[in-house]
Amino acid sequence: MSDEKILSAYAKAAEQGIDPRCIPQKLNGPVPEDNQIIYPDYPESDQESWRFLFHRQMQFLPGRVCNEYLTGSEKLKFTPDKIPALKDLSAVFKKTTGWKIARVPGLIDEQDFFELLRRRVFPSTDYIRGKNELDYTPAPDLFHDMFGHMPLLTDPNFASFYQMFGEAAFNAKGIQRKWLETFHWFTVEFGLINKPDGMRIYGAGIISSLGEVQHALSNEVEIKPFDVKKLINQPYDVWHVQPTLFAINSFEHLENEFKNWTKKEGLIT
Ligand SMILES: [Fe+2]
Repeated sequence: MSDEKILSAYAKAAEQGIDPRCIPQKLNGPVPEDNQIIYPDYPESDQESWRFLFHRQMQFLPGRVCNEYLTGSEKLKFTPDKIPALKDLSAVFKKTTGWKIARVPGLIDEQDFFELLRRRVFPSTDYIRGKNELDYTPAPDLFHDMFGHMPLLTDPNFASFYQMFGEAAFNAKGIQRKWLETFHWFTVEFGLINKPDGMRIYGAGIISSLGEVQHALSNEVEIKPFDVKKLINQPYDVWHVQPTLFAINSFEHLENEFKNWTKKEGLIT
């Protein structure tokens, strides 16, 4: 057998210089959900990283992040003291928007991801980035998944939109898949929202990133009004801070625009 065949996909990727954590994994069976999820035995250094990231990011959020995010993080009882337990966060989801959480081993195959979302299940990691990656990590980790994504999933309009997103993306074919991916990028990950007191952040990719949280509302960014056709055709580069972002007017606006577009495309019923 040649070396080529012996190496796993991860080992091959590592040889090619791709971080193996950035390669989506196909789930080969059910993953623990809700109260089946066991709290890991985190070493103190992981708890320290959570405290550090939490405090550092919170310095930048007031006045920049939308109030729905802050309300959500209160509902989830986020505290710098301890990495939250997925099981406890899932219990809050159930009470607020009827979602729950599944524990996944890392970046997962997109069809698996969409399948979970359409069932109102949010896939989350439960490991934290290494000490040498506190400023930047290309791979998902619990700080991005919990701190970045979860608060908005307690908002009814956002949660309803995200369930529809899972449904539409699961049904998408060909170019529609690329459109949905771009839509996700400029909303769930890098979305801005127009509020009476100014422009605010809601995208998890901005909220959990040290560089983006300081850059996204700066003069260096062109903020475009939300327009589905323009948004899905906007090019983007995942390796640099974003020069162009789109602003919604409300989460109801996002939900309605997404519903109208995907219905027209025949992606949801
Ligand atoms: Fe994300």
